[in-house]
Amino acid sequence: MKTKILTAGAEDIALAGRIIKEGGLVAFPTETVYGLGANALDENAVKKIYAAKGRPCDNPLIVHISKKEDFAPLVKEVTPSAEKLIDAFFPAPLTIILEKSEIINDTVSGGLNTVAVRMPTNEIARAVIDAAGCPVAAPSANTSGLPSPTKAKYVIDDMNGKIDAIIDGGDCEYGVESTVITLAYDVPTILRPGAVTKEMLEAVIGYVEVARAVTEGMAESEEAQSPGMKYKHYSPRAKLVIVNGTKKQYEEFVNSRQNAFALCFEEDEVNCKKVCYGRETDDLSQARELFDALRKLDEAGAEKVYARMPHKTGVGMAVYNRLIRAAAFEIIDLTKPFTIGLTGQTGAGKGYVCERLRELGFTVLDSDLYVKKLYEKGGEILEKLTAQFGESVVKNGAVDRRELARLAFADRESADRLNRIVHPLVIAACEADAKGLTVLDAPQLFEAKADKKCYKIISVLAPEKLRLERIMKRDGISEEQAGERMNAQLDEDFFKAHSDFVIVNDGRDINEQINSILEAIL
Ligand code: TXA
Ligand code: MG
Repeated sequence: MKTKILTAGAEDIALAGRIIKEGGLVAFPTETVYGLGANALDENAVKKIYAAKGRPCDNPLIVHISKKEDFAPLVKEVTPSAEKLIDAFFPAPLTIILEKSEIINDTVSGGLNTVAVRMPTNEIARAVIDAAGCPVAAPSANTSGLPSPTKAKYVIDDMNGKIDAIIDGGDCEYGVESTVITLAYDVPTILRPGAVTKEMLEAVIGYVEVARAVTEGMAESEEAQSPGMKYKHYSPRAKLVIVNGTKKQYEEFVNSRQNAFALCFEEDEVNCKKVCYGRETDDLSQARELFDALRKLDEAGAEKVYARMPHKTGVGMAVYNRLIRAAAFEIIDLTKPFTIGLTGQTGAGKGYVCERLRELGFTVLDSDLYVKKLYEKGGEILEKLTAQFGESVVKNGAVDRRELARLAFADRESADRLNRIVHPLVIAACEADAKGLTVLDAPQLFEAKADKKCYKIISVLAPEKLRLERIMKRDGISEEQAGERMNAQLDEDFFKAHSDFVIVNDGRDINEQINSILEAIL
C-alpha cells in the first residue's frame, strides 16, 4: 500500500476525513502523541488498526470525539463524575472510561463492556474527526511495543506502507499519552497517568485512586485493570536501566561505565554519550521529550542506557510510568550507601570475590579492618567497652583484643553485647568511606543489620569440606577449632534466602559467576 503524506491544510484534512469515513486508516497528530485513526463504528476498519500496529486484539482502543455532545451516545450513562470532568477539562489530554453503549462494537472495546473516550485539544485532530463525521478509534500510531510517536517522522518509520495516510502536523505538545481514568469502578481510578494530573482531577471530583500497576508494574498472577498495563511497552532496542540517586551520584555512576549512553537531563554533566529528556525541574519538558529520546537512542545504536530517575510528582508520575516500562522495571538504587553487600560462610572464598570487584573499579570496604582500626584508635568505643566488660579490656589507650575476646566470647549473651557496641560503629565508619560503587565486605552483614543499607546482597558459599580445609590452612588451626567457627555462623539456607545472588565456590568458574551478576545488576 502506498501511504499518502498529507499536510494540515483544509483539502488534506477533508481527504483524511473521507478516508476514515470510507473505512481506511489515517495517522494524525494530537496534543499527546500521534494517533492511528479509523471509523470507530466500522468493525472492519477497526480491525485494520490492530493489524497495522501488530496489537493484541484484547487491548481496547480509545474513541475520539470532536464535540462534548458526542460523548453521551457512546456510553450507557454519563455519570455525575463524568459530567464534571467533561465540563472541567474537555477538550483535554484526558480519557474517560465508562460502561459502553450498544453502538460500541467488541473490536473497539477489546471485548470489555466499557469504552474509553477522549476529546483532544489538538485542532488538527478535531478537524479530522469532524471531517470524518464519526467517532474515531485511535491508539498511538506506533508499532505495538515501541515508543509512541511524538513526531510525524516516527509514524512514517513505523507505518509507511501499512496505512492510507499520515498527516504531518509537527511535534506533539505533551509527548506522553492521555491520562486514562476509569469511572466504571466505585472509586475513580487512574489507569494511566498523563498531563492531567491526579491533583487536577481531585480538585474536580474528589478522591481519585491510582492503580498500583501505574508505578509498581504487575504481578504475574494479577489481572490487568487496563489490558494495556500487561503488555511490554515503549521499549527501545537498547537495555535501559533507571538509576536512582542524586545528580552527583548519577553523574559519577555513568561516568564510570564504559560504552554506555546516558538518558539524562540537560543540566547533567556526563562525559559519555548522552541523549537528554528535558530539564530536571520541568516535568512537562521531560514528558515532551521522553519518547523522542528513546527513539534517538535506538537511532544512535545504543546498547546499554542508564536513565536518570525523574521526580514522580505531577506530570512526573506519567514520565516515571513510561520510563519504568521502557526499563522493564529495572532500577539501580544508589541512594543506599553500599552498592553490594558481600557476605557468606567463612572459608568460602569471599576474599577472592573482593579482589575481583576491586579490580573492576569498586571501592571495597573490609569490615574486619574497620573493627581493627576502631580498637586501635580507641575513643568512644573504649568507654562503651569498659562499661560492659570492665577496665581490663583497655591497655595503653587501645582495646586489648585478646582480653576482650576472652570476656566477650565466653558466652552467647556476651558476644551479643559486644556486637551491639561494635556493629553500629563499624557500619557507620564504612558508610563514611563509601564512594562511588561500593562493596561492603562483611561476614556479619545480616547480624549487623547492614543488609538494609545495601542495594544488592551477594553471598559466597562453598561445600563444608572445602571450607574446613581452607580455614585450617589459612588460620593454622585444628579441625575442631575450624568446625567451631563454622558452626557459629548462619547456615547456608539463611544466606540463600536473604541474598539477591549466590556465588558458589565449588569448582565452578567464579569469574563467570561474578560477571553474570554484575551484568544483571548494573
Ligand atoms: O493520548 C492518547 O490517549 C493517545 C492519542 C492518540 O489519543 N492514544 C493512546 O491510545 O494512547 P492507546 O491505544 O495507545 O492506549 C490506550 C490505553 C491502553 O492502555 C488500553 O488498554 C487502555 O487505554 N484502554 C482503552 N480502553 C479501555 C477500557 N475500556 N478499559 C480499560 N483500559 C482501556
Ligand atoms: Mg499506545
